[in-house]
Amino acid sequence: MTSVTPTLGIGTVEAAVEAALSTVRRNLDRFGGAYPGDTTVSDRYLLRPAENGIPEGGNRGWTTSFRTGTLWLAWELTGDEAFRAGAERDVDDFARRLHAGEDLDTHDLGFLYTLSTVAAWRLTDDEAARVVSLEAAETLMTRFLEPAGILQAWGDLSDPAQRGRTIIDSLMNMPLLTWAGEQSGNPAFADAVRRHTAQLRTHIFRADDSTFHTFYWDAETGEPLRGATEQGAFDESCWARGQAWGIYGFAMNFAATGDEGLLDAARRSARYFLAHLPADDVPYWDMVYTDGSDAPRDSSAAAIAVCGLLELAQVETDADLAVEWTERAHAILASLIERYAPDPAESSDALLRHSVYDLPKDVGVDEGTLWGDYFYLEALVRVSVPGWEKYW
Ligand code: GLY
Repeated sequence: MTSVTPTLGIGTVEAAVEAALSTVRRNLDRFGGAYPGDTTVSDRYLLRPAENGIPEGGNRGWTTSFRTGTLWLAWELTGDEAFRAGAERDVDDFARRLHAGEDLDTHDLGFLYTLSTVAAWRLTDDEAARVVSLEAAETLMTRFLEPAGILQAWGDLSDPAQRGRTIIDSLMNMPLLTWAGEQSGNPAFADAVRRHTAQLRTHIFRADDSTFHTFYWDAETGEPLRGATEQGAFDESCWARGQAWGIYGFAMNFAATGDEGLLDAARRSARYFLAHLPADDVPYWDMVYTDGSDAPRDSSAAAIAVCGLLELAQVETDADLAVEWTERAHAILASLIERYAPDPAESSDALLRHSVYDLPKDVGVDEGTLWGDYFYLEALVRVSVPGWEKYW
């Protein structure tokens, strides 16, 4: 157990880990190799709906690897081979998805292949998984747009609605490229990471340190155009999960590139996020809402922020700030354990209740999410397994 602040006792964390693992086991028994949906529906995961020729329970969308990553974490925590076997079944399916060319038009290849095949290689030296990870990184690189120096987030590269658009979440997709650069020795990967993250730190912030969810560049000239939202309340609001992606993503990319501007960006993301939390330390889904609002919370943003603050504390060059990030992370995690984890565990299929996927589209509002589950368990691992090495 790493040192914990008074807000986060050892017994509390151990009980939270046990409860989470019981749910991971229950979901593994129930779903086997089929994938649940992005979010629960009334606290229950259902089979992922069929879409675009991919059958019900199939591997599509950006969230399936969070199940795989959760299984890897469960295996690391317990050594139970059933969790490893479940994760490896997913890894084989991620290889199949890549080679079949299924639903790959997205920058989220980073999320998808970091938590599945890269994690497999890191944890088990799986050579086939290493090769697939490199192929996924090559595919992600096809989204790099010159002269803007950004990776396009969504859709076909010729889609006028998406062309030249990137989003703050993309920071979390960069580790796949950083890893591929280290493995292959090809400097193009690190160059793409350096340029994309520099564009984001320059343009994704407003003067008050809040962030846009998305930003457009002119794909022909490379000129930065405008910020906008996709999942936030309005273009000038601060979508809570985006701000949390900023904490974690800028911190990791600072470590990868050595670009001091990214450390500053991670600190700015953290300061704004922490200054706009309500009394229980778990944000409303958009940070325009404050104490007293009846807007839904996004507990997944809080879980991402815990991991991001703990990562920032590790790379922080100012010792006092490192202590502050750690203490605030522990306080948020304590609140998640006390108020947002299902009690009893069986009362939800999710590890964390009360998240929001996309409120403007009325999708997954006040539900559990696959990524909320993953980051909550990663947060618990970070505070309970000394020296744990992340998959990113
Ligand atoms: N990366 C998409 C989301 O956070 O909803």
